[in-house]
Amino acid sequence: MNKLYEQAKKVLPNSYSKYSKFKVAAAIKLKNGEVITGVNVENASYGLSNCAERTALFTAYSQGVKKEDIQEILITTEQDDFISPCGACRQVMSELMPKETLVHLTNNKGEIKTILNKELLPLAFSEDDL
Ligand code: THU
Repeated sequence: MNKLYEQAKKVLPNSYSKYSKFKVAAAIKLKNGEVITGVNVENASYGLSNCAERTALFTAYSQGVKKEDIQEILITTEQDDFISPCGACRQVMSELMPKETLVHLTNNKGEIKTILNKELLPLAFSEDDL
């Protein structure tokens, strides 16, 4: 867990958030111990911005990671309050990570609130609904 926190903090300065000035970083831990990170990447066309969670997950999948390989994810910012993943990220996390994946939400005091992926988006839309 500490390792995950450190890795997320390490890449937080890479956040490309020139419009919102709201830096976010995510670090995914795989069952084999590997850590994959991501940051939010914004755009002058605001709607094209990508959140840190999705950057990390898309990077993981691009490297061949499978859903069942993922153990936990930690999300961090510079903010006083605990980060709360946006709706789009909750939907993507629901699709790409196991229901029981630990999701660690942090604040700038170094406190960590841990919930399960399935708690983030009850009644999520999924392949079962297609
Ligand atoms: N953002 C994330 O990267 N993750 C979240 O969980 C919430 C929001 C980003 C999107 C945008 O770049 C900035 O934070 C402000 O909304």
